[in-house]
Amino acid sequence: MKGIILAGGHGTRLHPITMGISKQLLPVYDKPMVYYPLSVLMLAGVRDILVISSPQDLEGFRRLLGDGSDYGLTITYAQQDEPRGLADAFVIGADHVGGDPVALVLGDNIFHGPGFSGLLQDTVVDVDGCVLFGYPVRDPERYGVGEVDDEGNLLSLEEKPARPRSNLAITGLYFYDNDVVDIAKNLRPSARGELEITDVNRLYLERGKAKLISLGRGFAWLDTGTHDALTEAGQYVQILEHRQGVRIACIEEIAWRMGFIDREACYQLGTRLAKSSYGRYVMDVAAAG
Ligand code: G1P
Repeated sequence: MKGIILAGGHGTRLHPITMGISKQLLPVYDKPMVYYPLSVLMLAGVRDILVISSPQDLEGFRRLLGDGSDYGLTITYAQQDEPRGLADAFVIGADHVGGDPVALVLGDNIFHGPGFSGLLQDTVVDVDGCVLFGYPVRDPERYGVGEVDDEGNLLSLEEKPARPRSNLAITGLYFYDNDVVDIAKNLRPSARGELEITDVNRLYLERGKAKLISLGRGFAWLDTGTHDALTEAGQYVQILEHRQGVRIACIEEIAWRMGFIDREACYQLGTRLAKSSYGRYVMDVAAAG
């Protein structure tokens, strides 16, 4: 399974913060936002990852993550000149995906909840069609919205409907079989000139091959799209980390626990950041074994 992190867009709802830096590089408490979606792919066992961003922002991601080898990953980069919709990721990333299934995660999506890595690892084993994740929200009209039957089959799908049929938002984490590349290449742009991910998912739905996994109560899918939402996401992470003494989306620790790097390599990564509490945490967990 290949992975794609889409970190494009202008982040206009966060202006002026995002006038000088990519939204997905902004801090969510103690680490850059992109660590959160990256950790989702890592927990799913996905190690060959393409990061897509705008020409002016790519350099920042490269500086941050390099070629991924520090974390036992292969990270490559591609540019999206203009935001052309989420499904454009599969057109840009066609060579990267090759003949494999693929996981797409949006660079500003933060997931946290019990059993998530097990759920991800079960999901990647056999993706026949597409697998989406739904999350109940108070304001579904801001998102893709799905209806689902008792067996987890998707029944309907709408993008930002004025009158949502359910409160189940479609999150920014998508698993597809290899057909997605051809589907995206043949997709007609929407009225706003974009290749919509919801149109891709609707095609799978029409083929009877769209699953939706509901992430229920007790799970957190956090928004980072506004000043308040970004601050609240940081506060959520801060509260949990302070209370439990563990770090969420710590990519060094995950790389070690997933067996991508060994304990010594994890410790060494921590030493490079030793002046920050994040770096000392990495050293401590590695030292404790
Ligand atoms: C996109 C998708 C939407 C999905 C959301 C998740 O919306 O189009 O279906 O629910 O991501 O973050 P956007 O954030 O681009 O408005």
